[in-house]
Amino acid sequence: TPKIIRTISELRKEVSAYRRTASEEATVGFVPTMGYLHEGHASLLKRSVSENGLTVLSIFVNPLQFGPNEDLTRYPRDEQRDISLAANNGVDIVFLPAVEEMYPQYPLLTNISVSSVTDHLCGASRPGHFDGVAVVVTKLFNIVQPDRAYFGLKDAQQIAVITRMVNDLSIPVEIVPCPIVREQDGLALSSRNVYLDAEERAQSLALSRSLAKAEAWISEGASANELARLLSDEIRKSPSADIDYVEIVSYPDMQPIEGIDPLRNARNAILIALAVRYGRTRLIDNKLVNPI
Ligand code: PAJ
Repeated sequence: TPKIIRTISELRKEVSAYRRTASEEATVGFVPTMGYLHEGHASLLKRSVSENGLTVLSIFVNPLQFGPNEDLTRYPRDEQRDISLAANNGVDIVFLPAVEEMYPQYPLLTNISVSSVTDHLCGASRPGHFDGVAVVVTKLFNIVQPDRAYFGLKDAQQIAVITRMVNDLSIPVEIVPCPIVREQDGLALSSRNVYLDAEERAQSLALSRSLAKAEAWISEGASANELARLLSDEIRKSPSADIDYVEIVSYPDMQPIEGIDPLRNARNAILIALAVRYGRTRLIDNKLVNPI
């Protein structure tokens, strides 16, 4: 069973004790999360456990990355279940800090803002969100000091932001992107899926279904603009879908693809990204298209 740690000083003590006693090539892997863990999180934990001598999981619902009208207060939590999932996946340390432990002087006077890669998608529709992510991830990196950190491509823009920040600031950690884990029927796993009622859950399949059709539309020669329209039309077949965005951008720079260029002639990786509301629940999904 993992060690449960709630303070920064104790976490630092544990990791440095490991580094002192372990062999020189032993590495520390880190999986930051907001808890209410599912098989998507478990895939990151498994990867870290297989690649590192010590795996640290953090569970912290970070208030800095929620907007004033978002779901901070109702974000789902289940500490006991999360700890058993961590134990079942071979995690060594679970770091569960309180808000006062992470942010004793609130509000912070320091911000980290990554420009350009945050101009579109969630960066545009959730102002300040990625500043909050950048601050908490930097702070967690400084606390854990991992060799590698594991992130899911479910949040592809988050990976683009963190990778760019780590490069810009020479933060000594390797960012490891991991594939999206889905339910049998295609819905991308998310802690927020519990908000969906049965009707919304059924309709939410429009996201993965539209992305599954994208490849065919691209090979039929759709431009980026046409592809976005085809995706939107497909999503609107589910009547309660309220589309936040459907965007086609280059990856990892996250810039809009020119409408006239056929996607199949593009020379860089392309990200098809969706955000759709069902009732009060906002879901995101995406597909990375890597041409030749
Ligand atoms: P959270 O939403 O809990 O996600 C934690 C990690 O799990 C992220 O890297 C996310 O991309 C990954 N993940 C979530 N669902 C996934 C799925 N279906 N398949 C694969 N990976 C998945 O992302 C955050 O928390 C926060 O922003 C955080 C980085 C912890 C900073 O607060």
